[in-house]
Amino acid sequence: MINKNYSLDHRFTALEVMQDAPVIPVITVREVDDAISMAQALLKGGIRMLEVTLRTPKALEVIKAITEAVPGVVVGAGTVRSSDQALAATHAGARFAVSPGLTVDIARACRDLGLPLLPGVATPSEVMFAQSEGFNELKFFPAVQAGGVKMLQAFAGPFFDVKFCPTGGISLANAKDFLGLDNVICVGGSWLVPPKAIEDKDWDLITRLAKEANELKLGE
Ligand code: 3PG
Repeated sequence: MINKNYSLDHRFTALEVMQDAPVIPVITVREVDDAISMAQALLKGGIRMLEVTLRTPKALEVIKAITEAVPGVVVGAGTVRSSDQALAATHAGARFAVSPGLTVDIARACRDLGLPLLPGVATPSEVMFAQSEGFNELKFFPAVQAGGVKMLQAFAGPFFDVKFCPTGGISLANAKDFLGLDNVICVGGSWLVPPKAIEDKDWDLITRLAKEANELKLGE
């Protein structure tokens, strides 16, 4: 559960974003009203770092609406694939960014904006590129498809100074396997926000899933 107090205008580092809870929910939500109820439900379940993917026409509007309506949560933009998106997300109120990969352009934009970024990597060369751009906290994506726990164990040798947030194919069933690794701080996943729960406006279910995700920490 949330056990660290930050001021409402705290500027988070990527590490702090990762350390806040065992899971960062990866959210794709189409309607602004649903987004607010969903954010409140996650917060009630003890999850406040939310990754809203830039995959729907209203994603920026959603980031802005949650930021304004639910001050206790920290909204980040996911699926950031260009510097323009990093800028637009910042203007909408995003306080961190997650990208499926990394380009020089995005790295520069996020540095210039002061926007903490979790860049996606799946191979050793990509880890090395990310580190050469100054990033040591990385999203391992797509985690299960790219080699899962064994790949991260192999990364631990050469990349002893890197911490990962594996995302992609992770669920309550396999999250503990990843969270048990020394080089993993948290995982990302969309399972906390099932599309059906949004459709049914089953906010209690989302709160329960968030609480369940928080309990993963106990098994560390
Ligand atoms: C994504 O960017 O789609 C994330 O990796 C979420 O993956 P998941 O739906 O498998 O959790």
